[in-house]
Amino acid sequence: MARELLILKGDIIFTPMLGEFAIHENSYLVVQCGKVRGIYQMLPQEYQGLGVEDCTGDLIIPGFVDLHTHAAQFMQRGFGLDMELLDWLNHYTFPEEGKFQSTDYAAKVYALFAEELIKQGTTRAAVFGTIHQQSNCLLFQILVRKGIGAYVGKVNMDANCPEFLKENTSESLAATEKLLCEWAGNTLVKPIITPRFAPTSTGTLLAGLGEIAVKYNLPVQSHLAENLSEIAWVRELFPGQREYHNVYDYYNLFGQTPTLMAHCIHLSADAISCMARQQVVAVHCPDSNLNLTSGIMPARKLLQAGVRVGLGSDIGAGHSLSIPEAIVKAIQLSKVNFLRDNSQKPLTLAEGFYLATKGGGSFFGKVGSFEEGYAFDALVIKDRADLGLSLEERLQRFIYTGEPSQIHGRYIAGKKI
Ligand code: GUN
Ligand code: FE
Repeated sequence: MARELLILKGDIIFTPMLGEFAIHENSYLVVQCGKVRGIYQMLPQEYQGLGVEDCTGDLIIPGFVDLHTHAAQFMQRGFGLDMELLDWLNHYTFPEEGKFQSTDYAAKVYALFAEELIKQGTTRAAVFGTIHQQSNCLLFQILVRKGIGAYVGKVNMDANCPEFLKENTSESLAATEKLLCEWAGNTLVKPIITPRFAPTSTGTLLAGLGEIAVKYNLPVQSHLAENLSEIAWVRELFPGQREYHNVYDYYNLFGQTPTLMAHCIHLSADAISCMARQQVVAVHCPDSNLNLTSGIMPARKLLQAGVRVGLGSDIGAGHSLSIPEAIVKAIQLSKVNFLRDNSQKPLTLAEGFYLATKGGGSFFGKVGSFEEGYAFDALVIKDRADLGLSLEERLQRFIYTGEPSQIHGRYIAGKKI
């Protein structure tokens, strides 16, 4: 359990609004029952005499949120990235995911994955497992044991994939329902409905998953409009639907319950306004955009249209679990978009930081900020506070050049991990 009262003292910085820092130098942050109570320059009378975690001279920032990652692709990072999406899936990803038939293999890889998440300062993640029930259970257990906040998805696929990953449709749906019933009551690690993407799904599977999502009011995650060949394939496979997103929408997998869609690179104006209207969260995965030569998500355009946006590592199409790296690359890619189209203003560091904390965190509830009532997910970062830099400059420098070894404290929902 989170300790009832926790008080930290240090240099506090977070983004309560897109692009705006709140800065509290040398201040006290009071946490009660895992939630932020307030930030004070002087410690109020009622809290005096209680123990203070003295982090004077250290930065205290919200933990990072990874809104799209594949735990089962951890060992695959860096492989086959000369290919585009569909070849990469067939040559590398599907064979690697096939190995998760073995719970021994899964136990090893998922433990390494969870350790690396923690090392990189990620405190919440939306995670894809594989189709394999027992290995998925292990993934839940390992994340729970580590104290990480997560949504974990059993991947569903029943078409257009190798036989060793192809599920029987009704068994896939039954396994999904069984797993979610087992884990629905957990507070930090919860189930999420996870059709891999439209091409590896029959309409029957998508219809069943949409029904389960609505019946249990469960969130959904999948991939959308990542690659041009993928999009053409969806058009062939689902000729009755106007566009890619209409496939998910038709089956109640597009905002009927909270929904994450990774990539969203090649979207029409109609698709973007549908996402905004239905509050579907677009997950920007910059490394993956580049590694698989998929394209560049038009993050500014989506934000301007009112779409909620978060950041993801998307390993193994991405090669790193570092969310600070994703912030930097999202900013850099937004500059490429700007150079091509000057109506798409580049993202600022404060905007990138917001996407990686409160933006993505909002999918988990009150997460990713230090406003009152927010879950206390935080990192304590050692840096040189004695060199006359402003707090904002110190944060900028950490995001661009920081090392995981500088993270000296990690809290998730008020619990030190
Ligand atoms: N689309 C369908 N499956 C995947 C996957 O595993 N990674 C990425 N990047 N895109 C996908
Ligand atoms: Fe992905």
